[in-house]
Amino acid sequence: MRFGLGASAYEAVAGVSIDVAAGEFVAIVGPTGCGKSTLLNVVAGLLAPAAGLARVHGRRVAGITAEAGYLFQQDALMPWKTALANVAVALEVGGVATPEARERAKALLARVGLARFLDRYPHQLSGGQRKRVALAQMLIRNPAILLMDEPFGPLDAQTRGMMGDLLLSLWSADRKAVLFVTHDLEEAISLADRVVVMSAGPSSRIMADHRIDLPRPRAINEIRLDAAFHDYRRAIWNDLRDEVMKAYGAQDDVGGRA
Ligand SMILES: Nc1ncnc2c1ncn2[C@@H]1O[C@H](COP(=O)(O)OP(=O)(O)OP(=O)(O)O)[C@@H](O)[C@H]1O
Ligand SMILES: [Mg+2]
Repeated sequence: MRFGLGASAYEAVAGVSIDVAAGEFVAIVGPTGCGKSTLLNVVAGLLAPAAGLARVHGRRVAGITAEAGYLFQQDALMPWKTALANVAVALEVGGVATPEARERAKALLARVGLARFLDRYPHQLSGGQRKRVALAQMLIRNPAILLMDEPFGPLDAQTRGMMGDLLLSLWSADRKAVLFVTHDLEEAISLADRVVVMSAGPSSRIMADHRIDLPRPRAINEIRLDAAFHDYRRAIWNDLRDEVMKAYGAQDDVGGRA
């Protein structure tokens, strides 16, 4: 994936090859600016790669990937709509009539623990509650694959753990393929079947791919006490540490020249 043209072009990601099996939960970790969001955007069909291609269910991605649900790094709720309306609209744009869309939105909001908050506007909800609405908004169309970009980033550790448990319980009901980007190595290990480590950019690549054989169902805050969890953490951090240092070094470099 390249941004810009000619001599000023920036090669963000190069030679990346990654397969996600049906029902598999893959977490992507890597230093800031390495190209994690870029990779998700290519799968979502929001960016076209300079070379290579993405396939979803064997079909080449060209234009927006209709089967994908995308949870963005930033909050993307509409401030002028209630929680219920924010979720229902995801169906309405697909042609579902408003009464049915609202019924289904109501049921899903109950599943994410917001039955009592249907009529609240985003500014009347906590950060964790807004993330639950966004999760419902993504899931209501029943997407075949889930793309999640640091969805729980701004939340406190306790709330992140609860959101992780909620996500796993929804995911285990009908397993979809998931690409989950996070800065947080512990979050990656506790959620995923595989943790993929990307190197610092430019020309970021995949430098390690760890299978996480921790038993399911998992409880986020308990799995972290498991001895095997710490072995994974140590092994993956070993891969990640140098890349994180490189990324910070590159930023200092830019700062120094500016
Ligand atoms: N539209 C763009 N034009 C130019 N460069 C871009 C564009 N989008 C991303 N980049 C660059 O590509 C690289 C990868 O960006 P990306 O947003 O994918 O990183 P990231 O791994 O998601 O980082 P973070 O963890 O901070 O979210 C960065 O160096 C970024 O500056
Ligand atoms: Mg990003």
